[in-house]
Amino acid sequence: MTYAEFQARWERGADAEYDAFMRRSAAELVADARAGRLGEYYQLWRAIAAQTTLPQSGPVLLDVVRRESTYLVRYHAAAALLALLGTAEFDPVDLTAGRPGEAAALDALERLLQERLTSEHAANFDADRDPSNGYEAIAADFAALRSASTIGVTTVRDWARNLEPGASILDVGCGTGLPISAALVGDGFEVFAIDAAPTLVADFRRRLPEVAVACEAVETSAFFGRAFDGAVAIGVLFLMTAAQQREAIGRIAAALNPGGRMLFTSPREPCTWSDSLTGRLSLSLGHDGYASILANLGLSLVGECCDEGDNHYYSAVLPEHTRSTP
Ligand SMILES: C[S@@+](CC[C@H](N)C(=O)[O-])C[C@H]1O[C@@H](n2cnc3c(N)ncnc32)[C@H](O)[C@@H]1O
Repeated sequence: MTYAEFQARWERGADAEYDAFMRRSAAELVADARAGRLGEYYQLWRAIAAQTTLPQSGPVLLDVVRRESTYLVRYHAAAALLALLGTAEFDPVDLTAGRPGEAAALDALERLLQERLTSEHAANFDADRDPSNGYEAIAADFAALRSASTIGVTTVRDWARNLEPGASILDVGCGTGLPISAALVGDGFEVFAIDAAPTLVADFRRRLPEVAVACEAVETSAFFGRAFDGAVAIGVLFLMTAAQQREAIGRIAAALNPGGRMLFTSPREPCTWSDSLTGRLSLSLGHDGYASILANLGLSLVGECCDEGDNHYYSAVLPEHTRSTP
């Protein structure tokens, strides 16, 4: 085969692959990149640059650029990421070819991505006030997946053993009640629950009719006009902006009795990622960020751990002698 024949064949293959990728949705393209279904002609990356937004694909592209072993894959993923960022500040070769200064360039690229995602995250929230942060729209899918999962149950039950038998616990962002509220009810605790997604709250009422549940957002909930011995927020806080997370933690802390305990999840490192179900951006303030919020509220961060699904937990306690204010 001559070089010209090889080139013509390559171009036909690449065009066909590009067309096939362009028929996929943004979520499917991101899932392909994550699962290593990359194709043969590097067209996934062109399709991602054309079909997805920075919050949808930025984190996975950066991951590919940092970790993929094949140079051309790293190169094309870097080119797609730079196109989505709309920056000419970097050359894909300097990010991927193993040249001197590559590690520093990658760190600078990551900082730029985080800055951009954090500001887009805040802007999205201003434009779109869905209080459930996208969960109402995918309620049926979420209910089917989560109701069949026991991830986090052992961790939450272990945490609740620090409370008195029959203690009151607020479940913030309770979803359908399965598996977290249901496990706490099963262990004899008096559970109160809130969630901002009406479909999930209706589901909760059907599954746990004896439990008080309100369709309210943590930002505005009256928390049943009472205080609690404990509060859990599993898989919730990182759906919000940094300012909303600070406010939410403050509001939950203010709803605790003296000596009350709070347990919430969010990654240990500050980071952003795209929620696999809603496609929206999630934001972790990281250990230092959460530790500082808790300290400012007068809560002690007394423990951290990971569950079987690799979710990171922060456990905090309000002192006996003082009440925190939001
Ligand atoms: C990932 S799910 C976790 C549900 C449940 N905690 C669990 O462990 O299965 C996030 C939940 O938080 C709820 N949520 C999102 N933003 C909220 C907000 N601002 N106030 C209250 N609930 C919220 C969603 O509707 C959804 O049910």
